Amino acid sequence: MSPVKPLRLAVVGFGRVGQVCAELTSLSHDLSLAAIVRRAASAGGKLPETVRSIPVTTHIGQARDVDVALLCVPTNAVMETAYQILQHGIPIVDCATLHGEALHAHKNAIHKVAFHHRAQAIVGAGWDPGALSVFRSWFALLTPGGATEMRHHTGISLRHTTMARSVVGVKDALCAEVRATDGRLQRYVYVELEKKADANTITQAIRADPLFLGEDTQVFPVESLAELEQEGRGVVLDRRGPPGRLGHHHLLLEARLDDTVLTAQVMVAAARALRRLHVGPRDLVCGIAASGGNVIEAALHRSQHSHVIFAESLFL
Ligand SMILES: NC(=O)c1ccc[n+]([C@@H]2O[C@H](COP(=O)([O-])OP(=O)(O)OC[C@H]3O[C@@H](n4cnc5c(N)ncnc54)[C@H](OP(=O)(O)O)[C@@H]3O)[C@@H](O)[C@H]2O)c1
Repeated sequence: MSPVKPLRLAVVGFGRVGQVCAELTSLSHDLSLAAIVRRAASAGGKLPETVRSIPVTTHIGQARDVDVALLCVPTNAVMETAYQILQHGIPIVDCATLHGEALHAHKNAIHKVAFHHRAQAIVGAGWDPGALSVFRSWFALLTPGGATEMRHHTGISLRHTTMARSVVGVKDALCAEVRATDGRLQRYVYVELEKKADANTITQAIRADPLFLGEDTQVFPVESLAELEQEGRGVVLDRRGPPGRLGHHHLLLEARLDDTVLTAQVMVAAARALRRLHVGPRDLVCGIAASGGNVIEAALHRSQHSHVIFAESLFL
């Protein structure tokens, strides 16, 4: 049997999500990066080492042999970009941050264009919308009549520390209390330093302060505290089923994550799934949203053309 040809992806928009998609693609054995499509203003920009050999174009029409385009452009630019790409008959995956009615309207608009150009599309393929929507839908499906509570939080709880901030050479500082694996309480102090400040001197000054003396205090210089606060964001999804004869079910998802990375993972997985969707009549165009009932809807679409579907195929 001849080996399966790698799926050739184009990454459109080389921002946070686009860069991770490119990296995941270049690390994979069954995918290859056909092109990076950028705006003219940024097309000459330097690329990371891992993708330096990849052709950069300013229009999808200039890229060769693209099987799937991953749309990593700002949400307000997704529709226009999708239109340009679908016109070439190239399938797309998008992760636009839209929810509820707006996501439905977007899905319908994409469906019309995809249907017209006989190309396929997966929309809402990210973390939220995307994977988190799937968890939410399954929780609701398993406990009908229950209530869901969702809380977002930072990965660790950071607070400003006036003491560390007052040390000469420190621009700003944040502190977190973390339990070590043996149960000991540790203090992590993250500091953003002034130019030319000496990290060792600052570390010693913070550790010697009466506030931290005798505590296990780790000091970490970082480039940007603002970025640190964004990192490691988390979510708690808490679903309580109604009390009743069938038992009282409580489902809990606690996740710490980088939504950029998880979004890129879902997009790449969706691109792989598109290859499977090729099976079937050529006029079958699936404009599907990888969210909730829509995932099931997509699987049902497929089930019309195959007698058995695995439960796992409900996911990407
Ligand atoms: N579903 C989810 O959970 C989830 C999570 C994160 C992000 N997202 C979505 O993913 C998309 C990308 O997010 P990101 O964080 O990577 O954004 P980003 O860092 O701002 O990158 C977007 C890139 O798109 C290109 N771009 C900028 N303005 C454009 C325009 N007007 N028209 C066409 N291209 C333009 C630029 O790339 P070039 O300079 O290379 O042209 C830019 O770097 C957004 O739609 C965002 O809402 C979804």
